Amino acid sequence: MTFSFARRIQHAPASFLGELFRVSADPSIISFAGGLPSSTLIDAEGLSDAARDVFATDPRTALQYSTTDGYLPLREYIAARYRRRLGVPATAGEIQITNGSQQCLDLFAKIFLNAGDRLGMERPGYLGAIEAFSLYEPVFETVRLDSEGPDPGVFEKMLMETPVKFFYGIPNSQNPSGCTYSPERRREIAGILDGTDTVFYEDDAFGELFFDGKARLPLKRFLPNRSVISGSFSKITAPGMRIGWMYAPQEILTAFNTAKQAADLHSNFLCQQILHRYLTTHDLDAHIQKIVAVYGRQCRLMCDLFDDLMPALSHTTPEGGMFLTATLPAGLHAMKVFDEGVRQKVAVLPGMPFFVDGGGTDTIRLNFSNADEKKINEGMHRLAGVIKGLS
Ligand SMILES: Cc1ncc(COP(=O)(O)O)c(C=O)c1O
Repeated sequence: MTFSFARRIQHAPASFLGELFRVSADPSIISFAGGLPSSTLIDAEGLSDAARDVFATDPRTALQYSTTDGYLPLREYIAARYRRRLGVPATAGEIQITNGSQQCLDLFAKIFLNAGDRLGMERPGYLGAIEAFSLYEPVFETVRLDSEGPDPGVFEKMLMETPVKFFYGIPNSQNPSGCTYSPERRREIAGILDGTDTVFYEDDAFGELFFDGKARLPLKRFLPNRSVISGSFSKITAPGMRIGWMYAPQEILTAFNTAKQAADLHSNFLCQQILHRYLTTHDLDAHIQKIVAVYGRQCRLMCDLFDDLMPALSHTTPEGGMFLTATLPAGLHAMKVFDEGVRQKVAVLPGMPFFVDGGGTDTIRLNFSNADEKKINEGMHRLAGVIKGLS
């Protein structure tokens, strides 16, 4: 029997997940290929106290259906944090709770894209966004990322020649590159967008994870009505709760809310209340300081080991986040490094899934959040052996 699936599912890019599962199922492999935050930094005790409180207080309300936009006190908490951290005048009415920020990608594409519409994104771009957007059959326009952000010349040319409905970017510690837009480039990109019909979609999955603890200005400061920000508790509290949000102007949020209601009525109400209870009884800033201190050390160690053991590779030097990208010596294919790495018990992610138009064969992405310093040390020595053997 054959099934006649919709065309959109045939548009989904080939997934690398099967390979990754194979790698993560083998405990003898040190994996830098995945994208998990550190399990040891999840405050399981604090969250279980908060869960007990919620069940002790009003369990039947906590277990009922709720509104699509999300638990109001949680939306107020998020809006207040934006006002305090980033100086943007956010209100709870501009925040919609979602199932992780991954759902924002799907719903945003659903409300903006008809098949064949153009959207812009960074090159390389986040694999999960490519997967989510692809199902709406768009035409991807890509803008090369340099060390300061999207190339402004290419960005301007794209907008003039082939206007895109929205541009999706990750200005803070991008996945996969680890790059952060410079303050000047933020202004420049916002200036180019100003007066156009293109929306800037700022995916801020990592904005709280700068190693120096300082927030960077969002593009929303320069484009209040033409930009949205998606955020997430995954990297600063716990990804398994699947709580993220979309912060957007009212007109966009109304359409977004319609799509959210059709998709799942609302996000897990119980988890929203547990999370809110946790956030109002614990010091999130102190918890984030702990996370960035660990990630900062692990990132520095990985960069130092690249420089000491693999000088033929160049690599990005992230200011925050969970990933860096390394460029392989000329002629060495990322898939060879992956295959030989798995044989020698170290896994890295080949760059190809981050490129919608081919490319990435000379790059690898490494995650530094989910392996401790001992594992990073051992894994990087194994990787150096792989590179030496293949060069
Ligand atoms: C850039 C980026 N955006 C969004 C997500 C989705 O995360 P979540 O749905 O857990 O918020 C991820 C996950 O790693 C990510 O790297």
